[in-house]
Amino acid sequence: MAPSIAEIPTANVVVPVKDTPAAAENKPKIRRVIEEEGGTTTASYPHYLPTWNHGEKYEPLQPFDHYDHGKDADPSFKDLLTEGSRIQKLTPSTGSEVTGVQLSKLSDAGKDQLALLVAQRKVVAFRDQDFADLPIENALKFGGYFGRHHIHPTSGSPEGFPEIHLVHRNNNAWEFDEYLAAKNSSVSWHSDVTYEKQPPGTTFLYALDTPEVGGDTAFVNQVEAYNRLSPALKERLHGLKAVHSGVEQAENSASRGGVVRREPVQSIHPLVRTHPVTGEKALFVNNGFTRRIVGLKTEESDALLGFLLAHISRGIDYQARVRWAPKTVVVWDNRVTAHSAIVDWTTGERRHLARITPQAEAPFETPYVPEKEPQA
Ligand SMILES: [Fe+2]
Repeated sequence: MAPSIAEIPTANVVVPVKDTPAAAENKPKIRRVIEEEGGTTTASYPHYLPTWNHGEKYEPLQPFDHYDHGKDADPSFKDLLTEGSRIQKLTPSTGSEVTGVQLSKLSDAGKDQLALLVAQRKVVAFRDQDFADLPIENALKFGGYFGRHHIHPTSGSPEGFPEIHLVHRNNNAWEFDEYLAAKNSSVSWHSDVTYEKQPPGTTFLYALDTPEVGGDTAFVNQVEAYNRLSPALKERLHGLKAVHSGVEQAENSASRGGVVRREPVQSIHPLVRTHPVTGEKALFVNNGFTRRIVGLKTEESDALLGFLLAHISRGIDYQARVRWAPKTVVVWDNRVTAHSAIVDWTTGERRHLARITPQAEAPFETPYVPEKEPQA
């Protein structure tokens, strides 16, 4: 039997809208894309079309203990990469693609191995999945194994399932022109919701509708980005912390008449974080949410952060690009990657993706181990 939504661990509790006559008159606005499309839609999964309920408000997130199941994984991956499956690297350092595995059928041992594989490869695309066809409750139950579900403060969700974050763009090629009138490129590197005290770890994004060509997602391997730095700079970065802010995202939503379901927060995280399973160190800064380095003067912070963000964005030799197809599920480790959508199609085709976003541990950094300087 499908689990009830009450069984799925969620971040916090919905504050119900009071059912009084006055409240009924001022019923909170619910924006529904299906209504904007005229009540009928060409979407393959209409029940996944975004809704924004202005009556939905959430309390601040509370800390929780995260256990990373990758720690229990058998590194042979025998319960994940079973007979008949195939795994191919997308690039030598970053990203893999798997066929012949049905994620929804994995045993707990297989899920543990999934967490480890994704931590090692940073991003893995699984083809021919049944995820989008499952009842949403079941998809959430699967994702809940990897951590507490994050509820996004501003994004659209399927009605009644705020734990699902939706990415949706349809028939709006004109927006493309408007966008490029102000910017040279659609590339916008970020890691998801790093302003939270416990940002996401193993994260799932699955295709509902995708353009035939275009709308790929690019990923950058932040472990490899860290490894490329000189020992002298690595040593200097050790112990530094940076401010990550969700304030601008909330303000942007509010200014467009969108929802702000939870008051925005800022967090201070180490600039370099250690992965709890692999022990690898990764740069933990991103263009989307990292604002400044604590303890440095403005120009110093801007220069150092600017260098690190440019280093991440230009490293095509430690990036991978995933092409979407119907029934693809992409899983990445949000602790050790950044990503960007590539908004490059002008056909008006629908791009509709659903994200399940389990939160992980608060970022931490293990001691710096001196490395040999290269010989002059
Ligand atoms: Fe994202």
